[in-house]
This record gives sequence, C-alpha cells and structure tokens, in this order.
Amino acid sequence: MQCPHHGGELVSDGAVFVCQAGCRFPSPQPGVIDLLGDVATPTSDHYSLQWGAEIDFASFYREQRAHLTSMTSRQMGWPALIDRIRQRAGADPVRLYDAACGYGGLFMDLFEAPPPPGLRYVGADIHEALGAIARPPGVGPDRAQFVRWDISNVLPTAMRFDVIICRAAIHHTPDPYRTFQSLAARLAPGGTLAITAYAKKSPMREATDDALRAAVVPLPPREALAIARQFTSLGKDLQASDAVVEITHDLPLLRIKAGRYGIQEFVYNHFMKCWFNDRFGDRYSDVVNFDWYHPPFAFRYDLHELERWFAESGIDVVDTDTTPAQHYLEGRRPL
Ligand SMILES: C[S@@+](CC[C@H](N)C(=O)[O-])C[C@H]1O[C@@H](n2cnc3c(N)ncnc32)[C@H](O)[C@@H]1O
Ligand SMILES: [Zn+2]
Repeated sequence: MQCPHHGGELVSDGAVFVCQAGCRFPSPQPGVIDLLGDVATPTSDHYSLQWGAEIDFASFYREQRAHLTSMTSRQMGWPALIDRIRQRAGADPVRLYDAACGYGGLFMDLFEAPPPPGLRYVGADIHEALGAIARPPGVGPDRAQFVRWDISNVLPTAMRFDVIICRAAIHHTPDPYRTFQSLAARLAPGGTLAITAYAKKSPMREATDDALRAAVVPLPPREALAIARQFTSLGKDLQASDAVVEITHDLPLLRIKAGRYGIQEFVYNHFMKCWFNDRFGDRYSDVVNFDWYHPPFAFRYDLHELERWFAESGIDVVDTDTTPAQHYLEGRRPL
C-alpha cells in the first residue's frame, strides 16, 4: 500500500506503517493497515457494530454457511465466480481486490481449504473491525491484506487487479458511480469486475423504505439494532400465517406480477421489508433488518442504470442476474 497523502510505499514498523514523509498508520494486526485513523462516519459506526466482536456475524456465517441460501453470497453469479477464481488461482497468480469486504465472508469462501496458492487478496472496508477477521491456516499477510479505506476513493496502491469484487456494498457509499469509477481505475486489462447493487422495488415498497429509513437512520447504532426487532417480529408473525394471496393480473404500475404469494412474501416484496429466517433466529434476523434500515446511504437501481456504469467505464458486461433484492453484473475490461 502507498501513503494516501504522499504516494510513497508504506513500510511496516511493528504496530504501524510509516511513509517517508512521516505519516503513521496503525496496524492493529499483522496484515491490517488502517489508512483512515480517527475518521468515523455514520456508515463506519454502523458496520463497526454490525461486524464487531459483540455481534460476531463471522462465526454465525462460518457455522451456517452451507444453509444460508437466502444470502446474496449463495445467489446470482457469486458462487460460480468464486469457483472460477479459486480454480484459476490454483495454477496462476490472481490479484484480487475485495472492495467493502465486510466481515470477511468472501474472504472465507475464496480461501476455503485448500487455499488456492496463486491468490493474492486485498480486502478494503471502512469499518473498524477488520482486525477481527479470522485467517484460515496458511493465509498470512503475504497472501491477504486488509485495509481500512473508503472505497469511494481509488485504492492507494501501484497494483492493478485481475479481479475486483464489490458485493452488496456500492449502494452504501455516498456516490456509487464515483465509487464504481474508483474500482475501475484499479482494474487490469483483461480483468473482471463484479458487483451487486440493490434493485429498485415497487413504488409502495420504495416509499415505505424511505419513510422508515428517515426514522431509523438518525438513531445511534445500538438503538437502531434494538428497534430492528420490530421488523423481525412482524416478519415472523406474517410467516406464521399460511394464508396465500392470489394476484390474478400483472399490475405493472405497482410492480406486482400475477401469481400466488405467501403473506409475508407478498408484503415483503411489495410493501415493506420485514425479514425473518428460522436459521438466523431473532438475533441475526435483527441484524439483517438493521442492515437494511440503518445505514445512511442505500441507493436502489434498475439494471440498465448499472449497465451504463460499465459501458461508460469501457468495461464489457459479460453476465447479469437479478433477484427481487439485487442486481449482479460481471464485466471484463478488454485487453
Ligand atoms: C452489506 S455489507 C457487505 C459486505 C461484503 N461485501 C459481503 O458481501 O459480505 C456492506 C459493507 O460495505 C461497507 N462500506 C460501506 N460504505 C463503505 C465505504 N465508503 N468504503 C468502504 N466500505 C464501505 C460496510 O462497512 C460493509 O462492510
Ligand atoms: Zn505520507
């Protein structure tokens, strides 16, 4: 990594990294550099709690990984992309930038035993719990580095990456297109850039989301987490009903398609997010609802808006996929 202020390479000096001009950046763990220091934002405060030791989402993820089919990690192009990266890095060097790496979910998937020998990983995120991400055996700082960094800005490194992934995060940055351009700036010729971003929902759901966010976003993180229980509780109660709604016609203005829906699914997809999943239980369902309603930025898109970002950055879209929640786009920069 380079000094974000002066550009020179940073040198490790025990628990800090230093630049030639005298800047010092804490290194709370080997292989972790904090380039933001005291900078805290409502987003970093939110995710420092969400991914910190108290909630310990990473342990939950590790234990439940095989069963978490409702998570974005198990959906759209992600599992196939991870497989392809692992396969390629089994034989060749692959430099990968995981932008907004979160609690290390993709990191764990990428380095699942046996860790692919060619993979060189850099994870960046704004939260303050990067030092808590557990490393699989054999994956030391030479193979994986974590950087506390705002991904809105171009990563300060001379490295160009063969793969850049940004899962379920770009919509949380203040100017997602700018963030996209910052990612694209570090993509090597021939490299792959994959993102998922929130999809625009029905107008009723969008309006409810905005109104509820306006009430939840200003709360301190702990209060917002406590309030998230109300969404969990509603979701759980609606799921307990076995009533089915039959919609006889497509209703394009309302973005409701004809079909049969369980009550919770019908409310959730069209009117209001109120998440509950038995595997997650109340506690981690709260975390999902907290993750939806509390972060200050949560932009939503139609697919074509995101396709335009790739086109304008000279990256060819090679795969797209859409669920009611998110769009997946994978692009390749021409050689
Ligand atoms: C829903 S989580 C997704 C984490 C991870 N990509 C995954 O899929 O498991 C969103 C992440 O974006 C990070 N984030 C939000 N804004 C950011 C910013 N400006 N710079 C860096 N990370 C940011 C948050 O800290 C959080 O870890
Ligand atoms: Zn410096």
